[in-house]
Amino acid sequence: MDLDWANLGFQFRPTKSNIRFHYADGKWSEGKLYNTYDITLSVAANVLHYGQAVFEGMKAFRSKDGKVRIFRPDENARRLNSSARHLLMPEFPVERFIEAVKTVVRDNEEYVPPYGSGGSLYLRPVMFGTSSQIGVSPSLEYELVIMAVPVGAYYKNGIKPVEALIARDFDRAAPHGTGHIKAAGNYAASLISSKMAKEKGCPVALFIDPATHTYIDEFGTSNFLAISKDGKYVTSQSDSILPSITNKSLMQVAADLGMAVERRKVRIEELADFAEVAACGTAVVLTPVSKIYDGDTVYSYEAESIGPVMKKLYDRMTGIQYGECEDIHNWMVEA
Ligand code: PLP
Ligand code: COI
Repeated sequence: MDLDWANLGFQFRPTKSNIRFHYADGKWSEGKLYNTYDITLSVAANVLHYGQAVFEGMKAFRSKDGKVRIFRPDENARRLNSSARHLLMPEFPVERFIEAVKTVVRDNEEYVPPYGSGGSLYLRPVMFGTSSQIGVSPSLEYELVIMAVPVGAYYKNGIKPVEALIARDFDRAAPHGTGHIKAAGNYAASLISSKMAKEKGCPVALFIDPATHTYIDEFGTSNFLAISKDGKYVTSQSDSILPSITNKSLMQVAADLGMAVERRKVRIEELADFAEVAACGTAVVLTPVSKIYDGDTVYSYEAESIGPVMKKLYDRMTGIQYGECEDIHNWMVEA
């Protein structure tokens, strides 16, 4: 496969195949690999009008020993099911999900970026309601597709720091709404704030809690994390943020490194007290944040490169993913 592996960025590229399952009459079909991205869908399909759509994001890595391994696929399987339950969609068995992911990865092995390129194979499971309907009710039929795309850095400068703007005009999710699940609609709702951030030169919007606008929630595509001046790992607790698998793993890595970990409500003004701030998630990995703008207030952190504590976390995390550090928690699953 002839790709510029070191400069993939985060964009759609067709690969060899995607796997699909169809749900009808109360059960999921056998999986089938398709060599096309096209689907035939009724214009009356539930997903187009009433938005029953949930997705996942996960990665497979080419390890140092040449093998391809997937990072914590069981976690994505469980979160997909938690998203599905909330939107009254059918769950998909965890073991079958892991097998399906392995099948797609193996069939697209030539697209897994080589060890040392910094890339990975991004996996995107998406489930949506396909029944034709006009009344508002859960779909009777669903499609689950898992596609694979080789990717590099999400933001264009790799792990160079990015600037963020606090979204003051619009929330991405409602209190007691869908912020804690990976519903497609959350991302549609976040686009306007991301556009406003970009217009101010910030690639990232930082959302605050929708009920009181007092606490930090998360970035549009990632969780918020900070290092306090006394070296603690601090991350937001909120019922309107996505429970990030990267954040959960980094909290474990931080604890393994002997750091204190605090998962709690974080007041916006506390941004002035942190030594380092970053965004974490599957796509962004751990991207440092150099400045956060909130109206006329600017919070500044390490500007030139990733801060020293974030760098330690980043190295240990990516070291596990690429098979350079011992995988003591058995997170990596061979494809
Ligand atoms: N928060 C949001 C809104 C996201 O879209 C993502 C990406 O999946 C995350 C957080 C990070 O979650 P994870 O680490 O499981 O990818
Ligand atoms: C991920 O990090 O996997 C995501 O789903 C974020 C995103 C690109 C929407």
